[in-house]
Amino acid sequence: MAFKEGQELKIRVKPSDDCCSFSINIGHDPENIALHFNPRFEVGGDTNIIVFNSKSGGCWGEEHRNMVFPFCRGEECKFYINFNMESFYIRLCDGSMMDFPNRLGDVKYKYFDVSGDARIIGLKIK
Ligand code: GAL
Repeated sequence: MAFKEGQELKIRVKPSDDCCSFSINIGHDPENIALHFNPRFEVGGDTNIIVFNSKSGGCWGEEHRNMVFPFCRGEECKFYINFNMESFYIRLCDGSMMDFPNRLGDVKYKYFDVSGDARIIGLKIK
């Protein structure tokens, strides 16, 4: 899969009934992640918060945090993601928009991964 600048990635994810946290990761490989989008229901002292970060050469960057949290355990949620050289733009199921800087600055990413307590229901790029 290649995700390119200007394309829209639509992803449907179902958090498990006992989900603590899950993440959507987009980048080049597990050590170089341009977008780590990490809804946390309850983990490590965090409750109902979305954590954003990037990873470069295996090192995490500076986190961004957002208190918007329209997710429920066990209920499917949908995300629309697009990006350019400057930024990622994420639209959530409730219509709220978030962005996160494209710190790796590339216009094409081939690594995609959903990890944690959720499974992918559907994935489309157009
Ligand atoms: C860490 C967590 C990682 C990742 C990172 C983001 O605390 O273990 O999975 O979410 O924060 O900054």
